[in-house]
Amino acid sequence: MNVNIMNVDYSTKIPNNVNLSEDRQVLKALEGWHPGYIDWWNDMGPDGFQQSLVYLRTAYSVDPRGWAKFDYVKMPEYRWGILLAPQEENRVIPFGENYGKPAWQEVPGEHRAMLRRLIVIQGDTEPASVEQQRHLGKTAPSLYDLRNLFQVNVEEGRHLWAMVYLLQKYFGRDGREEADDLLRRRSGDADSPRMLGAFNEATPDWLSFFMFTYFTDRDGKMQLHSLAQSGFDPLSRTCRFMLTEEAHHMFVGETGISRVVQRTCEAMRAAGIDDPADVAKVRALGVIDLPTMQKKLNLHYTLSLDLFGSEVSTNAANAFNAGIKGRYHETQIRDDHRLQNSAYPVLKLVNGEIKRVDEPALTALNMRLRDDYTQDCVKGLLRWNKIISTAGYEFKLSLPNVAFHRAIGEFKDIHATPEGVLIDGATWDRRKDDWLPSTGDGDFIASLMTPVTEVGGFAPWIAPPKVGIDNKPGDFEYVKIET
Ligand SMILES: [Fe+2]
Ligand SMILES: [Fe+2]
Repeated sequence: MNVNIMNVDYSTKIPNNVNLSEDRQVLKALEGWHPGYIDWWNDMGPDGFQQSLVYLRTAYSVDPRGWAKFDYVKMPEYRWGILLAPQEENRVIPFGENYGKPAWQEVPGEHRAMLRRLIVIQGDTEPASVEQQRHLGKTAPSLYDLRNLFQVNVEEGRHLWAMVYLLQKYFGRDGREEADDLLRRRSGDADSPRMLGAFNEATPDWLSFFMFTYFTDRDGKMQLHSLAQSGFDPLSRTCRFMLTEEAHHMFVGETGISRVVQRTCEAMRAAGIDDPADVAKVRALGVIDLPTMQKKLNLHYTLSLDLFGSEVSTNAANAFNAGIKGRYHETQIRDDHRLQNSAYPVLKLVNGEIKRVDEPALTALNMRLRDDYTQDCVKGLLRWNKIISTAGYEFKLSLPNVAFHRAIGEFKDIHATPEGVLIDGATWDRRKDDWLPSTGDGDFIASLMTPVTEVGGFAPWIAPPKVGIDNKPGDFEYVKIET
């Protein structure tokens, strides 16, 4: 492994470990794109706090033993860089029809369109979430949380840079056009929305933010894992480094929800409430009741399931065959990595019933990745439920059935309860507010969202974290709002 690749060159305008100073054409293209990016950040990035000093980590290396340093930065001055994981020598394509052949260092001509499309779709999600979260700074429950929000935001910005680098370097003129379009689309815009549904939804409050970073960033994790297997080596290396940063985003989600659950349980105990389903009583304490958390979870989990696409998909089969997009942990799976003759069970609607049906494993790859995702999601639920049971309550948070509240795939045209019982449209309309956040639920949560900006202070609906970022003490000033 070459030592230079480990450390990032900060001498060019765009920090990088891809030797941009000797790749003048790409450097020029990226420098040309930079002002538009800064304009986008100023218009669509965090609303307010742009002149505040935020205690952020910046990547200075891709060495897994130590890759980031923390310091106070004004967000518009964050050094968004291009960082690829080190090239593995003699890496081969780990799956598909080209299994075992050397990984591509250039775009294979016959798969150019497919690769570009996958890179653009991934790239589009990165700025989208920044747009969705731009208003949250105004209601942050603490400086610690405010800092975490901004850390996630600047890193999503960097992930956009990561995808734009691939487009500019490997896709010529149409790559440049796609890079410009990534700055043109807007989350939730009627004329020019972001490409995927979940990225056009609002993130109205901090509970949504935690649910989003737990469930939707985790979809990102699964997609990045599959692309990290890619036979197109620059994409693989890009995604491998992105995953290092992505872990923190999901940490913010998991611990955020844990802290909300914790605080609610403490408040219920202190008030002598025995029934966590007594919503009015719990809300009167100024904390978020567990049934409402379940509704938020139902919403964000199902929106995220839709991101996996149709259960049965020839696009997914083609991308696998081509060696472009693999499976989660592909290299650790023990099979032929070609899947020409294997099957995979898919949940389908058969004569009005939800059944498992064997499909060719190749076309069932979206379903498989979604199953891996669901298994990954369960870990958080176990932790949250542990907090609830330790506090002495019977209540359990759970993942709804995959037929519930879907807009894509097998179950998009039917209605089902969170338990997976099929119901008609009238029943759905009558009961959906029991399962998904209603306007009233949203108003209640919004009423709690008053900002806390004193050093070491926390809003009363959320518990403080167990440990600080970068091992800082509880009274650390993570954001210097006035500078
Ligand atoms: Fe990201
Ligand atoms: Fe993320």
